[in-house]
Amino acid sequence: MKSTILLQLFTVFSLMLCHQLQLRAEDLFRDRIAPILERRCVTCHNDQQKAGDFSMQSAESAFAGGYIEAGDIESSYLIDLITPENGKAAMPKDASPLSEEERQLLKDWIAAGANWPEGLQLHEPQVSDFDWWSFQPVAKPEVPAIEDPWIKTPVDAFILKRLQEQGLTHSDEADRRTLIRRLTFDLIGLPPTPGETED
Ligand code: HEC
Repeated sequence: MKSTILLQLFTVFSLMLCHQLQLRAEDLFRDRIAPILERRCVTCHNDQQKAGDFSMQSAESAFAGGYIEAGDIESSYLIDLITPENGKAAMPKDASPLSEEERQLLKDWIAAGANWPEGLQLHEPQVSDFDWWSFQPVAKPEVPAIEDPWIKTPVDAFILKRLQEQGLTHSDEADRRTLIRRLTFDLIGLPPTPGETED
């Protein structure tokens, strides 16, 4: 009798654990994998524009080509395509390769069974998805009211405010020799001539 109850408890716990793991795999796809594919692949591989007759918009189309073998990185041709050789990878086509971290995430995802939450569709990134400063309307924020002799322009007040928020202090002003060196390195990539440093 006792052992039956134990067995039942064990079964319930195992099922709960499986469910948890399944959920975690789905989160992994949503949070880490989908953004990579949407940013780097789906622009050319979607149901409208199927470059190479391959769409990554849905699980059905992504797995249909046989380029992803769940649980088997070695047989997954997709991994070959994204692996750079001499700094260049076949995919994303004519673009910089995925970062090492992104490639590792894709490998881990395939090795763990290539979970793709049911019904989840990927989409090309829209401009509105990007929270870029360059897309924000121009605004005139209030200059922080901080009195400090270090502040020479209103921009400095913003910098000092953030520094203070982070518990940091600004560096001392560089001497003139350092400044001219920074300036010429920045502008022409070379150190200043002794004459320029004298001036
Ligand atoms: C700029 C468009 C573009 C992007 C971005 C792109 N591809 Fe492709 N892809 C193509 C084209 C075009 C082909 C057809 C074969 C070719 O021209 O090399 C292709 C083919 C493929 C194929 C079919 C196999 C083959 O060699 O033909 C796979 C798989 C693939 N791409 C995966 C990816 C993955 C994964 C990404 C993102 C990491 C990606 N692609 C990003 C354009 C793109």
